[in-house]
Amino acid sequence: MRMRTVRVLSGRVVAGLVTAAFGLSISLPSLAAGQVSEAAMKEAKEIWQTRCATCHGTGGKGDGPAGAALNPKPRDLTSEEWQKSVTDDYIEKIIVGGGQAVGKSPLMAANPDLAGKPEVVRGLTRVVRDLKGK
Ligand code: HEC
Repeated sequence: MRMRTVRVLSGRVVAGLVTAAFGLSISLPSLAAGQVSEAAMKEAKEIWQTRCATCHGTGGKGDGPAGAALNPKPRDLTSEEWQKSVTDDYIEKIIVGGGQAVGKSPLMAANPDLAGKPEVVRGLTRVVRDLKGK
């Protein structure tokens, strides 16, 4: 009876170690170039909801409360055709530098505070990409 308890416990310890090692092995590569950490992704999603959705709408259709009054209006970012026509670099550039940075309307606001946060900018680009077809 006693032996059994010990074996069960050590089994749990081993399982815990394996889980810890596995957790480590997946969190390490996420810091490599081109990747977005969970924290940066969370910040990006928050920024989308609090900043971008004001004009673009939560679903990216260009129907945010402040978007209706704009001219030009923000386009439907869910459009597969538009998604195909732009690169990630372009999206990152317009997010940080605003419309002016890519020859578009300055009504697309710049976000200079994100210039030093490339991971969050990549996260926002992912948020924009995820709108495709929705
Ligand atoms: C003050 C309103 C406003 C806010 C806030 C805003 N945008 Fe925009 N955005 C626009 C407008 C207007 C355009 C269209 C510009 C044009 O067509 O010339 C645009 C265009 C874009 C485009 C390019 C679409 C295209 O036509 O190529 C992307 C991508 C984009 N916005 C992403 C974002 C993201 C991400 C955020 C938040 C960080 C954001 N925008 C915040 C108004 C806004």
